Amino acid sequence: MVTQKTKIDKVREKFNDLKIDAILITHPPNIRYLTGFSGSSAICVITKNDAFFLTDFRYKEQAKYQVKHFKKFIASGKTLLDLIQEKRILSKIRRVGFEADHISFSLVLELKNRFKDIKFIPTENFIEEIAAIKTEDEIENIKRAIKISEKVFYEILNIIKPGISEVDIASEITFLHRKFGAEKDAFDIIVASGWRSALPHGVATSKKIKKGELVLIDFGCVYNGYHSDITRTISIGKASPKMRKIYQIVLDAQTKAIENARSGLKASELDFIARNHIKQNGYGRFFGHSLGHGLGTEIHSFPRISPRSNYILQNGNVITIEPGIYIPNFGGVRIEDDVLINSNAEILTSLPRNLIEL
Ligand code: GLY
Ligand code: MN
Repeated sequence: MVTQKTKIDKVREKFNDLKIDAILITHPPNIRYLTGFSGSSAICVITKNDAFFLTDFRYKEQAKYQVKHFKKFIASGKTLLDLIQEKRILSKIRRVGFEADHISFSLVLELKNRFKDIKFIPTENFIEEIAAIKTEDEIENIKRAIKISEKVFYEILNIIKPGISEVDIASEITFLHRKFGAEKDAFDIIVASGWRSALPHGVATSKKIKKGELVLIDFGCVYNGYHSDITRTISIGKASPKMRKIYQIVLDAQTKAIENARSGLKASELDFIARNHIKQNGYGRFFGHSLGHGLGTEIHSFPRISPRSNYILQNGNVITIEPGIYIPNFGGVRIEDDVLINSNAEILTSLPRNLIEL
């Protein structure tokens, strides 16, 4: 079983390649991945022989029960950097990696200013590459998050009817997520109806839903730090022939991608399988976003499933597969499911994928 301790070992295994003797972790989702700590302010420093966790007074008690295998220091009336200096955490260290994609410029300047003898080395996806391979516990958490969201979906099907607003539906999703055991929504719930369904990220508005419209609902929740992410597009009343046509193209594109997803396949090739299907059916210019993304302690985790990705899929990746077609002034369709990569793709989501006409 992969524990906090083995995660720390995996971090250290990467030191040689980057010629660093410590790494500074500042990104809260990565801190949660390593330590289980769910607060908003902390720094981890992992050296060859030690692992330190620093937070402030607000999280003193929380850190006691959430964080194991780290030496813990609590800042009271001082900053976390003050504490790193005071406790001499970086003494004898010469090269320290930091998370270039997540740290603020001013914090890097301050580090350089305070620790003049240390060289700070930018790293990319340092923790993310480790976290992309999910452990059994993590997969279990994602499955729980999916189950909660799916239960919510069946509930809201009962309230969707002409006259209800997008925001009413989104609020109900948020309420039910919490009621059914989620920590929170995974992101601002997207409910986009009619012409607004052509906005891939059309967060819910006061627009009322009308008969004859498509409604795109993209929702997910967080369970024990891990995310679910599902999209269904439904029709209010009978769908028009054009709506059915684009729905079927998106569904076939998604099915092809799911059927071909496996470890060893390049993420860009997986993206191509779905994109090419949509293109060959004449709708290529209406699908402008990536096919999917990893799921983990962030909603958009590493790896990205995009035409530009160099990542090769590996056993244990959990990713979304979410092709779409968005036609301005008409509407859009996206279907999104979550899959676990092995020698094939195990679909973790179980909602029906055919067009639901309410
Ligand atoms: N579900 C939101 C997104 O993947 O962008
Ligand atoms: Mn998604």
